Amino acid sequence: MQQLIVELGSRSYPIFVGSDLLPTLANTLQSSLNQQIFIITNEVVAPLYLEAVKAQLGARDIATFVMPDGEAAKTLTTWSEALDALLATGFARDCTVLALGGGVVGDLAGFVAASFHRGVDFVQMPTTLLSQVDSSVGGKTAVNHPRGKNLIGAFHQPKAVLIDTHFLTSLPSRELSAGLAEVIKYGIMADAEFFAWLEQYMPALMALDQRALTQAIMRSCRCKAEVVSDDEREHGRRALLNLGHTFGHAIEKAQGYGEWLHGEAVAAGMAIACDISVEQGHMLAADYERVLTLLRAANLPTSAPASMDWDEWQQLMLRDKKVQGGKVRFILPRGLGDAVITDKVAESLIVKAVSRQRG
Ligand SMILES: NC(=O)c1ccc[n+]([C@@H]2O[C@H](COP(=O)([O-])OP(=O)(O)OC[C@H]3O[C@@H](n4cnc5c(N)ncnc54)[C@H](O)[C@@H]3O)[C@@H](O)[C@H]2O)c1
Ligand SMILES: [Zn+2]
Repeated sequence: MQQLIVELGSRSYPIFVGSDLLPTLANTLQSSLNQQIFIITNEVVAPLYLEAVKAQLGARDIATFVMPDGEAAKTLTTWSEALDALLATGFARDCTVLALGGGVVGDLAGFVAASFHRGVDFVQMPTTLLSQVDSSVGGKTAVNHPRGKNLIGAFHQPKAVLIDTHFLTSLPSRELSAGLAEVIKYGIMADAEFFAWLEQYMPALMALDQRALTQAIMRSCRCKAEVVSDDEREHGRRALLNLGHTFGHAIEKAQGYGEWLHGEAVAAGMAIACDISVEQGHMLAADYERVLTLLRAANLPTSAPASMDWDEWQQLMLRDKKVQGGKVRFILPRGLGDAVITDKVAESLIVKAVSRQRG
């Protein structure tokens, strides 16, 4: 098992990463778990792992809330139902809310933890690669609103994050690839050496080699933790984590959420961002080719749907959260391992990059 700390002063917390952590769960999380534990999971994950987790929690008081699967359940209604169930247990403010599931469960459970008694302890056990390398770290919790994704939520850091790569053995391969897009993102935006490591180990990761997965998750979490420690509430640098996301969100919206997985759209978005960087004279053409090759090795798309026209792109990008003062802010790589936030990009370059089909 490996461990790293997210440094946030008195709210610092450990992330544990390893390949078979369930049997020693209680020991590992000892100081982070209270006597009363409210587990939030969903109907896909519960039959796979809930009993095994409960069995490890020993003589604690445990109650469970099983939510429906999918993004559509990340709502105020589900949040409210979870709170009803939590209140019915009689648990007090010194309980722990434990999220067992992907990013949807983690975001909703985190918001339950943030709001019950104005904030109770929260522990994450992320079960998708995306949640293991991204959503479980950093303290953003949220539910969706009919007017948009993640519009209602709070910052609420967990007490601990326990990442067991064994969970990934049951994950659909498309979901694995979608998580790998965020892993590749860290390499492009902040760590050229990690990018090179990924080039070498992508086949192992795709084959669920547990040691390679532990390594990739550790490095991804370290990168995210470092950015979050520096800029917890996204006043500046944390926005770099959105590399590929302005284009990606536009693709997700154009296709209707659910058609493209988030990570797939981000992969195409990163290819577009790198394309622009090459045209601007920053990224080397050879490095751009390396990015495309790595995305393909992870079974990820490298172009937006050809059906999206420029009008649609403009409208969708202007609705993105990263718009400030009517200007779209882009996160663009400068080269491998470095990225900047900028609103100075010639429109002609964007038009060309979003419409380019990369085969
Ligand atoms: N808080 C943040 O900082 C942050 C960052 C990125 C994304 N997010 C949020 O995360 C969510 C996406 O998370 P996700 O990609 O994990 O999606 P998800 O939670 O919907 O999980 C994907 C699918 O895999 C299933 N699943 C989960 N674990 C499994 C396992 N071990 N074996 C088999 N199936 C499993 C789920 O039931 C679901 O059907 C979005 O709502 C997004 O907004 C939040
Ligand atoms: Zn993302």
